[in-house]
Amino acid sequence: MSDLAAAWTKLETAAQGARDRPIASLFDAEPDRLARLTLEAPELFLDLSKQPWSSADLDIALDLARAGGVEAARGRLFAGEVVNPSEDRAALHTALRAAKGADLKAKGEPVSAEIDATRAAIAALAGAVRSGAKRGATGQTFRAIVHIGIGGSDFGPRLVWEALRPVDPPIELRFAANVDPTDMAWALAGLDPAETLVVVVSKTFTTQETITNAQVARAWLRAALGQAGDAHLLAVSAAPDVAQAFGVPADQVFGFRDWVGGRYSVWSAVGLSCAIALGAEVFEDFLAGGRAMDEHFLRAPLARNAPVLLALAHIYNRNGLGRPIRAVVPYAQRLRLLPNFLQQLEMESNGKQTDSHGAPVTRGTAATVFGDAGTNVQHAFFQLMHQGTDIIPVDILAVAHAAEGEPASQAKLLANAIAQAEALMVGKSQAAVRAELAGQPQALIDELAPQKTFHGNRPSSFILLERLTPRALGALIALYEHKTFVEGVLWGINSFDQWGVELGKTLAVAILSELEGGAAGVHDPSTTSLVTRLKV
Ligand code: F6P
Repeated sequence: MSDLAAAWTKLETAAQGARDRPIASLFDAEPDRLARLTLEAPELFLDLSKQPWSSADLDIALDLARAGGVEAARGRLFAGEVVNPSEDRAALHTALRAAKGADLKAKGEPVSAEIDATRAAIAALAGAVRSGAKRGATGQTFRAIVHIGIGGSDFGPRLVWEALRPVDPPIELRFAANVDPTDMAWALAGLDPAETLVVVVSKTFTTQETITNAQVARAWLRAALGQAGDAHLLAVSAAPDVAQAFGVPADQVFGFRDWVGGRYSVWSAVGLSCAIALGAEVFEDFLAGGRAMDEHFLRAPLARNAPVLLALAHIYNRNGLGRPIRAVVPYAQRLRLLPNFLQQLEMESNGKQTDSHGAPVTRGTAATVFGDAGTNVQHAFFQLMHQGTDIIPVDILAVAHAAEGEPASQAKLLANAIAQAEALMVGKSQAAVRAELAGQPQALIDELAPQKTFHGNRPSSFILLERLTPRALGALIALYEHKTFVEGVLWGINSFDQWGVELGKTLAVAILSELEGGAAGVHDPSTTSLVTRLKV
């Protein structure tokens, strides 16, 4: 048996001991539990002590990380080596947030000078739009941006905007992703084309949804401003000539390289609309937060390394205890979109059934991620989290100091975040419930007590930000990026391709032609009947 196989077996065996062991009991058994399982990382505090692993199990998990070559893989990632073999690409998103003047290479090719130049161009454009030096075709200042993109060209910027936006922004930023015509209708509603910039973001510049929405936006601009409306178009793409051919002025096309994966691209010019709407300084601070987490991930020992520990806690649940679902609940309205972002980051990166050599994987890979803002979710799916038949580990996030609003409301929000983590772990015994019901008829007590019992022992990780600053947001996103990377390394998969999204895209093109009167294709009876029913 290889060292890695042995390390996996050890972890999976050790985790069996956690099935019936109360997590809460580990605090008595392990006086150093809090010290080992909490840590200060850049811009955030991480508490993994409510996870089911014992101190000995943690050591076993760390051995797995060593046997799985996490440190060497991390080195290859940052060195710009090919870590996406199926596309023969590096995944050097860390270079996008490196200090200016860095000298980084992707597959041996220098990249830093071009990155610095793009960052400078973004800052110049953002400054010009915000100051009013750059104006629209009719001389009006820009008061709105419509960001068009989908997947990785949408989730990151949308999250950044909602996390950092002023409550009443001088430049409004709207997003349209879906090819559902309603999305564009909503995005454009009430806007004046003369005061609106349209930023089309697509790595490939071929994505059906994005190009369709971009055509709608271009027509909307031209209807109001004539051909001059094209001056309101900006594009961000790894295929800049295709963007220019679409009608975007050459000096308004911002590039990035194919070694930037879509879901890792918010640090690139993909963040252009945020840089304009929030200010280039804010965007640079966001990059600095990501950089700080990179430094931590690179240099901290595995046992004190936040992304590594977060990944191992997940692997302990996912593989050790067979838990295929996890929840993410930010107790911060501004982080409401984090679960959506993580769905793509984790499930598109690591939702794989084949390893990077083409062999079937032998254990579960990415969990299904879901979540939304607390406290709202307490009134939705937390019943199941506390008393459902499946145990769903949860990441609970909180921000100590709110960006705005009533301090008393913020205190209640924090109290709920802490209380849920406690309730999930500690539960409420049937004996305690029975004591509360004392005095009621015995038959009623017997019927109610089991229903009101919380078995507890449901794990959570707690991530606390002091404030939701641009730096903290950058560090948080980079934390999850590196967590996802570590998991992919240990599962032996390529976290940077996404072949699984291709088949549906291809079939949709064929079915569209049938819906529009083209020749009938060969389908199963159910599909044929739907196509027939929906033919225009
Ligand atoms: O959903 C599939 C995908 O390829 C994602 O990986 C990507 O983020 C998204 O489509 C958008 O792609 P593009 O930026 O090329 O329009």
